[in-house]
Amino acid sequence: HWIVDNNQHINKNSNEIKEAALWIKKGELVALPTETVYGLGANALSDEAVQKIFIAKGRPSDNPLIVHISRKEQLLRLVSHIPDSANLLINAFWPGPLTIIFPKGEEVSTVVTAGLDTVAVRMPSHPVAQALIEAANVPIAAPSANRSGKPSPTSATHVLADLRGKIAGVVDGGPTAEGVESTVIDCTTTPPILYRPGGVTREQLEAVLGPIRIDPALLGKDEQPKSPGMKYTHYAPEGELTLVENQAAIQTFVDKWREKQFKVGIMATDEHKQDYDADVILSVGSRNDLAEVAHNLYHVLRQFDEQKVDVIIGETFPREGIGVAIMNRLEKAAGGRIIQR
Ligand code: TXA
Ligand code: MG
Repeated sequence: HWIVDNNQHINKNSNEIKEAALWIKKGELVALPTETVYGLGANALSDEAVQKIFIAKGRPSDNPLIVHISRKEQLLRLVSHIPDSANLLINAFWPGPLTIIFPKGEEVSTVVTAGLDTVAVRMPSHPVAQALIEAANVPIAAPSANRSGKPSPTSATHVLADLRGKIAGVVDGGPTAEGVESTVIDCTTTPPILYRPGGVTREQLEAVLGPIRIDPALLGKDEQPKSPGMKYTHYAPEGELTLVENQAAIQTFVDKWREKQFKVGIMATDEHKQDYDADVILSVGSRNDLAEVAHNLYHVLRQFDEQKVDVIIGETFPREGIGVAIMNRLEKAAGGRIIQR
């Protein structure tokens, strides 16, 4: 397989994009950068190609995929109709980190939608993603390009760490800007329901739509999430992550684990990293810049794995703006282990 290492001047006529598009047309898997995380792309109109995604990722077949498009006309073939709420969101946030769930069109395969009668669609803003969709001339189904359950990849190196040998190649567009996956909102209901927090915040959505509903599973209620993917343990590093809300208590937890001979890492911030003593201390950035924390989050989780830590103790973040998405992913990575005192 090949790696295209070129994050400048990529347009749909560049050789790298043409080669990647050929693989997509042949029904093979190509990993591609988007503004959120790297996706594992396949021709969304081919069942055989889409099935390869589930195999390469080890993804349960009941977890549906997002279909990526580069132009609004492509949407018409994928959906049975466009709800008014969706139209408002498209005009406000596409291209960008917002996935919208529509009633599915007849042509869309049930392999993509995991048997649901709805389909998730996103128009990424990343120029490489756009150029590849244009050059392949088909919508591209793409989940995050990680092995199922691992942190999503935010660089081509992460993709290869998980999927080397299982895919035709990866188009290297450098590190992704946002670092957490897109916001997912269901526009098949009135009012629409937020399934996954992301780069487009609840406040931004409500400024366009008025009040929306939040999937109760996101609010910590003990309910089955409406979005199949949200029920799996996700985004998790090998080391067992525990979040500690009281930053001043973190060292006590670290000391307890170290007494038991575990290799302990701390997921810290620039403001507090000097306060700690542990085997590995990594900062996710400044508490004053949650966009930076989102950008660094998965890379830092993967670095703990590289250093083979057994236990990771992490700081928490304010649940506002992109902080809602950060805490949602961290809670899942921690399998719910949050110490609140
Ligand atoms: O930022 C992103 O969204 C990245 C990039 C590559 O676009 N993709 C991504 O895909 O995160 P994935 O497969 O890792 O997450 C898609 C989420 C899953 O939780 C899935 O269950 C949900 O969207 N989803 C997809 N189709 C759905 C549908 N029809 N109804 C409800 N949830 C759906
Ligand atoms: Mg994923």
